[in-house]
Amino acid sequence: MKNFYITTPIYYVNDAPHIGHSYTTVLADILTRFHKLIGYQTFFLTGTDEHGQKVQQAAAKRQVDPQTHVDEYNLRFKNLWNKMDINYDYFIRTTDADHKQFVRECLQKLWDKGEIYSKEYEGWYSVGEERFFSEEELVDSKDPISGRPVEWLKEKNYFFKMGMYQQRLITHLEENPDWILPDYRRNEILGFLKQPLNDLCISRPKSRLNWGIPLPFDDEYVTYVWFDALINYVSGVRDRTYENGEPIWPASYHLIGKDILTTHCVYWPTMLMALEIPLPKHVLAHGWWLTGGSKMSKSSGTGVNPMDYMEQFGVDAFRYFLAREMVVGQDCTFSDDAFKRRINSDLANDLGNVLNRVHRLVLTNFEGKLPKATQIDAPAQELITLANQVKEQVFSGITQVKLSQVIEDIMSLVRGINRYLEIKAPWKLAKDDSAKDELATVLFTAAEAVRLSLCFLWPVMPTKTIEGLAMLGTTCEGEKDLHWGKFQGGESFGEGNPLFPRIEVEKAPPPPPKTKEQNKPILATDVPSLLDLRCAKIISVEDHPDAESLYVLKVDAGESEVRTICSGLKKSYSKDELQDRLILLFSNLKPAPLRGIMSMGMLLAGDGEEGKAVLVAPPANTKIGARALFKGITPSESRELKIKDFDKISLYVKDNTIFCNDNRLEFNGTPVSCDVKDEASVH
Ligand code: MSP
Repeated sequence: MKNFYITTPIYYVNDAPHIGHSYTTVLADILTRFHKLIGYQTFFLTGTDEHGQKVQQAAAKRQVDPQTHVDEYNLRFKNLWNKMDINYDYFIRTTDADHKQFVRECLQKLWDKGEIYSKEYEGWYSVGEERFFSEEELVDSKDPISGRPVEWLKEKNYFFKMGMYQQRLITHLEENPDWILPDYRRNEILGFLKQPLNDLCISRPKSRLNWGIPLPFDDEYVTYVWFDALINYVSGVRDRTYENGEPIWPASYHLIGKDILTTHCVYWPTMLMALEIPLPKHVLAHGWWLTGGSKMSKSSGTGVNPMDYMEQFGVDAFRYFLAREMVVGQDCTFSDDAFKRRINSDLANDLGNVLNRVHRLVLTNFEGKLPKATQIDAPAQELITLANQVKEQVFSGITQVKLSQVIEDIMSLVRGINRYLEIKAPWKLAKDDSAKDELATVLFTAAEAVRLSLCFLWPVMPTKTIEGLAMLGTTCEGEKDLHWGKFQGGESFGEGNPLFPRIEVEKAPPPPPKTKEQNKPILATDVPSLLDLRCAKIISVEDHPDAESLYVLKVDAGESEVRTICSGLKKSYSKDELQDRLILLFSNLKPAPLRGIMSMGMLLAGDGEEGKAVLVAPPANTKIGARALFKGITPSESRELKIKDFDKISLYVKDNTIFCNDNRLEFNGTPVSCDVKDEASVH
């Protein structure tokens, strides 16, 4: 049986947990659940880092002794993990007696082997960072990390001979290119190791700090907090085994934020080498959650508290957002808009929609019993093929810990089911008595695909997916349920309410009822003032299932509105070229179905060379949803336009910018460009 042991950093108990802590922990929980689902034996360790200066100071500030402080504050983490459905196997506290004992054994072993020595040390000491800096490291005579003052200190301390392991560590990194992930973090460490590696000071005199584990060979000193903390990964599983008795160490993955790369990729492996303990298999460093361009923390004081989103929109939606939105490794910005947009488009629209449609149609047409499929036609076969392909992607993506990609793959299956339903329109078949067999096939096939999607999403949303599966009269019991073909027909569907209600986003008040003015025919001269052209961003691109020349795009039109648009851009752009691009959306065009898919607007493009279309490009910093206006033309009351109205005017390009008559198209004074020849027209 394959094993999977994952860890999170152990968090300092000097403050309340925030989004950064939650992210790492949710990531570990989801990866553990996925591995469990695909048949691994798993172990998930998290906990709290309870010694050191930061914690001692936090306790002093509250005027309680450190032990009382940590006993209270570690519960903040435990309670939050409980609430967030975090299913850890063990929660380690560095004040646990067995951990302290093990740290002392490790220190004694290194002392006995001569890996630790004492020496007088003088240098600039930073209280904030709890470490010495050399003269060259200081910035403006201050601590280069926190910017706080430093003091000159002279004291005897104990040092671990870390420098001795420099070459062995470099060789390890060279021989195991995926030991640190992503690769740019590995390069960072290899770069760091080009300089001589110093020995590591692992003690603090009790006169300065007494909240720590006493050194076994000198009780005037306590252990440096990182030396104590890193050992948790081994001490936490030392007396534990997997169910089949196999030892848990070494870890498969240490999950960390990029802020603690050096401690995990230099201190820790060299400590393990000296202790003759095998190294973990991988260290995976993720990026930061940002707000307004800086790292989010409890104290970032931006007024956005992501944890409020969990209270308001539910734990599962919050977990989904964290896991889907951040690409592991890169930084990611948290915003209200991004949160609501993601939940509305993926969960309320896509997933909620397929589940509710299938559920309702089975309830109303087959008395709640899933009918059997009769004959599998081409669209059904296509959906089955997609489901099998997504299964392969999930299995391989998960073992490579590409979480946001795996979720995107699962959502492509969900969108595939929606497309299938649009093509087969079972709600129409339901009205036709002679189409009962066809209706049965559609509902059976769609239900099986929804069942699979929910099972794949269980690690991310453990509660909502189980509720969704219960609506379909089924459950998810492990690997065997991850393949096409569990439904047999005859299953009794359960009750159900929408799993993910759409989040209402404050929008402009609805337009007033049509005035006489609006019923008037539209003249060519009216069109420029009526055209509602908006900056939008392409968020996904797929092939149209039924039209070779069309893409189906999802575009973010601002204010949490996601639109589906069918566009004939295949000849001109690849999917990658379109992904994430800013475009100009003709947003008040009357929606029209294009080969079975409702298209809600149109993208504007100019006539390029060889018959290719060149997309109109809003200036790079344009806000999504901002409206472009023709200079000198006042926009008039909003009104839906037909394509034949648009055809009444001519939009053309001069000096790479767009004009109608002599009026230039602008976003707030900045012209809108299109990279085509002068006089080319824009459609
Ligand atoms: N106690 C040490 C870790 C010891 S591990 C042997 C520590 N604790 S911490 O409380 O400061 O937590 C740091 C971790 O929290 C980061 O590595 C990361 O996992 C997470 N995050 C804290 N802020 C973050 C963001 N803004 N964004 C993402 N994660 C960050 O360091």
